[in-house]
Amino acid sequence: MQQKEILKLLKSQPSSKPVSVSGWVRAFRSNRFIALNDGSTIKNIQCVIDFENFEEETLKKITVGAAVKVEGTLVKSRGEGQNVEIQVSNIEVLGEANPEEVKLTILSPKRHSLEKLREQAHLRIRTNTFGAVMRLRSNLSFAVHEYFQKNGFYHMHTPIVTGSDAEGAGEMFRVSILDPKNPPLDEDENVNYKEDFFAKETNLTVSGQLEAETYAMGLGKVYTFGPTFRAENSNTSRHLAEFWMIEPEVAFNDLTDNMDLAEDFIKYIIQYALDNCQDDIEFLENRLLQEEKSKPQSERSEMTLSEKLHFVIDNDFERVSYTAAIDILKNSKPNKKKKFKYLIEEWGIDLQSEHERYLVEKHFKCPVILFDYPAKIKAFYMRLNDDEKTVRAMDVLFPGIGEIVGGSQREERYEVLKSKMETMGIPKEELYWYLDLRKFGTCVHSGFGLGFERLVQFVTGMGNIRDVIPYPRTPGNAEF
Ligand code: 4AD
Ligand code: MG
Repeated sequence: MQQKEILKLLKSQPSSKPVSVSGWVRAFRSNRFIALNDGSTIKNIQCVIDFENFEEETLKKITVGAAVKVEGTLVKSRGEGQNVEIQVSNIEVLGEANPEEVKLTILSPKRHSLEKLREQAHLRIRTNTFGAVMRLRSNLSFAVHEYFQKNGFYHMHTPIVTGSDAEGAGEMFRVSILDPKNPPLDEDENVNYKEDFFAKETNLTVSGQLEAETYAMGLGKVYTFGPTFRAENSNTSRHLAEFWMIEPEVAFNDLTDNMDLAEDFIKYIIQYALDNCQDDIEFLENRLLQEEKSKPQSERSEMTLSEKLHFVIDNDFERVSYTAAIDILKNSKPNKKKKFKYLIEEWGIDLQSEHERYLVEKHFKCPVILFDYPAKIKAFYMRLNDDEKTVRAMDVLFPGIGEIVGGSQREERYEVLKSKMETMGIPKEELYWYLDLRKFGTCVHSGFGLGFERLVQFVTGMGNIRDVIPYPRTPGNAEF
C-alpha cells in the first residue's frame, strides 16, 4: 500500500480504497482520536480508532511524540474542522516516546517560549510554529531560484573559503590547520601562513560578490545563494554569524536598474509565499495576533501579517537619497526631542537602525530604498559619483527589519578603483584579479545582497533571527 502525505490526504475525497500514512502523534484523546502530523502541512489528520478492536498494549504506546504508521480508509469526517479523517484498521507504533521524558521537553503539549524552544532546537521543528517557519523558508528558497532562472540569470557557486575580505571590514573567521599552540613562525616572529594548508591566510567568505562580478563579466546575469560568515560581535535580533545571502550581479545594469531588480525580486518572492504557503501564513498571522494581545495597544501593529505582505507587493518602494534622508531625520521629532540614541547632527554619519526604522515605520510608512551614500561609510568597490563625496550605493529598508538589502553600482574605472583601494587600505596585490576586470572590457555593472534570514523574518513575522534558521550561530553559541 502506498504511503501518502497528510497534505495530499486532506485534499482527497473519501474512498473505500485503503490508505496508509506515517507521522508523529500530536494528541490522543479519549482513547479514540489521534491527531497525526507528518510535517507535510501544518494540519493534522484525525485518525479514529475503535479501541475495542485494539490491544491495550498498543494503545498505551500511542502517546504524544511517538512515531506511528496507520492504515485504514479515508472517510468523511463527523467532527468539525476537517473534511476527511482516517478510520483506522491497523496501527503500528514505530518509535515510542516515553511520556515521563516527553513531559520534560518542548514536545509536551503546552505553550513554550521561543527562548525555551531555542534550547531544544533539535526538537522544535515538531512544533506548529517551527514547522510553519521552516516550510516557508524552503518555499522562499525555491522562489529565489525560480525568479532568477525565469529571468535569464545563471546560478553560480562562489567559494566558501577565500583569501579576500570582500567588504573590507575585517570581520572574518580564519581558516587554518596550523597548531594554535605552536604555529610556525617567519623571520619576524609572525605566524608563517606559507606553511598553512593553502599556503596563505584564508578565511570564510563574508560575501560572494567579488567572485560574482567576475562571472557577470562573462555570463552577463548571475546570482549566488550561499552561506556567508561574519565575526562581528552583534548580539541583536537581526544578526547571525552564519547567514545565507542571495547576491545577483548584472553586467550593464546601473543603479536604477539595480533598484528595479531588487524591488521586482522581493515582490515576486513575497507573492510566491502568499500563493503557495497560505496555511502556514495564516497560522503565523494568528500566532502574532495572540502574541500581541499581551502588548499595550500602542505597541500592536496596525496591520496583520498578510496585510503587511500585500502592502509590500501593492506599493512602490520609496526611493530617497541619503542627503534627503538626513534632512528628514535632522528635522524629525525624535531628533529634536533627543529621543534618538545617536542624534543626527551632520551629513556624513552612518545611519543606525533606529534612524532606518524611523524613516520606514514613521515617516514613509513603506519600504524605502536609500541611495547615494557618503563614500566614507561604504565599501571600496562602490562607484564614485561626480560630486566625489557620494557613491552609487543603495540599501533597501523594511518595516520591522531595517536593512534587508545592501548593494551598489560597482566602480568600473581602473584608475578610480585603484586609488580608492590605496586610500582605504585594501590590498591590491591580493585583489589583482578584481582589478583585472577593469582592464579587460570593463563596463557598468551592479548587484546587491539580500540577507535571506531577514527576508524569512519579514514573511513569517518572527521577531528574532535565531528563530528562522534551523541552527543559529551567534557570538558564544554554536550548539548542534
Ligand atoms: O550590506 P551587506 O554587508 O552587503 C554585502 O555583503 C555586499 N557584498 C552585497 C552585494 O552587493 N553583493 O550585506 C547584505 C545583506 C544585508 O542587507 C543584510 O540583509 C544581510 O546581508 N546581512 C546579515 N544578515 C544576517 N546577519 C548578519 N550578520 C548580516 N550582515 C548582513
Ligand atoms: Mg549593508
